[in-house]
Amino acid sequence: MPFPLSRPRRLRRSAVLRRMVRETRLSPDNLIAPLFVREGRDQALPIDAMPGVAQLSVDRALKQARELHAAGVPAVILFGIPDTKDASGSQAWNPAAAVQRAVAEIKEHVPDLAVITDVCLCEYTDHGHCGVVCDGVVDNDASLELLARAALSHAQAGADLVAPSDMMDGRVGAIRRALDQAGFDQVAIMAYSAKYASAFYGPFREAAQSAPQFGDRRSYQMDPANGDEALREVALDLEEGADIVMVKPALAYLDLIYRVKQKFACPLAAYNVSGEYSMLCAAGRNGWLDQGLATMEVLTAIRRAGADLIITYFAYEVARELRRV
Ligand code: PBG
Repeated sequence: MPFPLSRPRRLRRSAVLRRMVRETRLSPDNLIAPLFVREGRDQALPIDAMPGVAQLSVDRALKQARELHAAGVPAVILFGIPDTKDASGSQAWNPAAAVQRAVAEIKEHVPDLAVITDVCLCEYTDHGHCGVVCDGVVDNDASLELLARAALSHAQAGADLVAPSDMMDGRVGAIRRALDQAGFDQVAIMAYSAKYASAFYGPFREAAQSAPQFGDRRSYQMDPANGDEALREVALDLEEGADIVMVKPALAYLDLIYRVKQKFACPLAAYNVSGEYSMLCAAGRNGWLDQGLATMEVLTAIRRAGADLIITYFAYEVARELRRV
């Protein structure tokens, strides 16, 4: 029906009509909040490049977890910042380290909040790479056992899900086997399946003190030019036992969120990463755009593309905003 019979504006005339025909909904249930956990007590060290985000001691992380839960956010993902680093990243599987203690504390005091742990070595190794380095290269197979050890220590602390972000080949299978052998067959895996070598992780590396000390991550993270390869990575992770797959970052990769959801129809997360967060904060602070509106638009677009879950540093304020309206 051409104009004038057809007038799409009829359904945009009022807020109630727009609400009735809205195709995509953003709910607090879609959100996962990242927390950076460090050693010490009663500490919240602000991260320069990420306004409003801080490295938290375990007690303060628990406090934020309570607030997130009260705001309706269903899950947190924990990143650890150790006091000491070494070549193999051994603090990653220390049962008394900050992440493991934070998991136990949160599960004890806020049991309904799902606790996810990021599994990687880059925060824990002195060279800052995501696996062990042998002869100047990141050794894939030697890293698998260490990643599995870290994941197992998170499960032992009580994590509901573990989320390997290292991009070593075969790590989902290695972690699944280690968890199952130790009796943790109910602990789920959220795999960072299509994780790109992205400049948008810049602020995170300050937050987690995890910048590589030599070279970069392009020998294990994906080339931003590749799309089909993301589908192959997702297929492999699902075969190895991933329960949820992820595309990361989100905004420059909406096509892949769409393609992964269309092709695999499985639970899909997208990571609205640190650089995406900081860009909106910076523009908002300069008065160049309305940060609150832009945030809602961005997160809704990530949902529209096909993501069920969004890891975002805006989780708390967005959940509160969604409950207000
Ligand atoms: C660890 C890891 C990174 C992020 C999540 N897990 C950094 C990286 O790979 O360099 C980035 C998250 C963000 O930028 O918000 N490998």
